[in-house]
Amino acid sequence: MNRILIINAKGIVQHGRSHVVRGKEMRNLPVMENGWIMIEGDKICGVGHMDEPFHAPVNDVVDASGKFVLPSWCDSHTHVVFAGSREAEFVDRIHGKTYEEIARNGGGILNSAKRLQATDESELYDAAFARLEEVIHFGTGAIEIKSGYGLTYEAELKMLRVIKRLKASSPLIIKSTFLGAHALPVEFKEKRSEYIDLLVNRLIPVIADEGLADYNDVFCDRGFFTVEETDRILEAGVKRGLRPKIHANELDFSGGIQVGVKHNALSVDHLECTGDEEIKCLLDSDTMPTLLPSTAFFLKIHYPPARKMIDAGLPVALASDFNPGSSPSGKMSFVCTLACLYLGMSPEEAINAATLNSAYAMGVMDQAGSFVKGKQANLFITKKIPSLASLPYSFGSDLIESVMLNGEFQ
Ligand code: NIG
Ligand code: FE
Repeated sequence: MNRILIINAKGIVQHGRSHVVRGKEMRNLPVMENGWIMIEGDKICGVGHMDEPFHAPVNDVVDASGKFVLPSWCDSHTHVVFAGSREAEFVDRIHGKTYEEIARNGGGILNSAKRLQATDESELYDAAFARLEEVIHFGTGAIEIKSGYGLTYEAELKMLRVIKRLKASSPLIIKSTFLGAHALPVEFKEKRSEYIDLLVNRLIPVIADEGLADYNDVFCDRGFFTVEETDRILEAGVKRGLRPKIHANELDFSGGIQVGVKHNALSVDHLECTGDEEIKCLLDSDTMPTLLPSTAFFLKIHYPPARKMIDAGLPVALASDFNPGSSPSGKMSFVCTLACLYLGMSPEEAINAATLNSAYAMGVMDQAGSFVKGKQANLFITKKIPSLASLPYSFGSDLIESVMLNGEFQ
């Protein structure tokens, strides 16, 4: 079996643990200084200090003097399958329109849906594959991808088939989420419950039977889907083995966190509107609060109260929300920069949130998020940098020198 040994690393980051990191523990980030890491085939084999080198025969030795080795970012919330882009809405927002106004007038998600419906599967696949190539070079090694720009029976299945093809062809670890309840299609404006019927009675059963999604999502927020509608959709998914992982409390105190926790959601995401009641509810759950600061940044809305959540003892995960409307970027190191600047998180907390906790939030803790024997060999090596804080600090620079996925340099 092919063995690669990376030696002399200034630090091997996030080694030796594989659990959700919460509360005060988020400040601690294990770093093996002057370390080595051994890769065997496509798996992590071991980590150690250079004083106790690994003597087994190896095929390749990589010198990482002055550089850090990190487990790849896990980006647990994205919408990378989409058609076209939405710069016009960006310009409209500069001139004073709000995201919600644009959405109410048929723009936003409905705009993306119109384009996606008119785009064929192979074109969607090629564009999404190119986006994945880009984020691989940003250091991402695991990614969750949602449907939700289809919004018809055929187009939602088309999106999920594209994600299925990406799973088969990309070196990334990929999880797929059904988001039929992303926005209400115009033709259902006067008959909301019929759209919910379509999701619950027709789409969820076929998606579950064909294994087209791992998770089930609803945009539970003001102007989108209500708690009652969310409850119905999540229950239908749970019955078919699709665990919830939902959009909640971005635009209002929507009750989304509570209904997500009620159905044992793997994660509830956004959470700009989170108060004491929501924090209490999350503390009694196995649901990962997932924050998407590049969305708050790009929409110029307030940031979620991350400090309050962590200080209350919660874990938090970070993700990019890569999508054409509210976060047209999948650069996780920039997400960490925003977390440090606007969520009050330390670089160590941000790295914990973007590795182990985000691995949990997409259900890949056994494969990704840290350096533990048997996990997938997905990692990146930085350039020579003075400290780990350089990653969020030098936000405009590309500090990644090389990326390995499944034991192979990309
Ligand atoms: O996560 N909040 C809901 N959905 C996406 C936005 C999608 C869009 O605007 O196209 C989000 O921000
Ligand atoms: Fe999203």
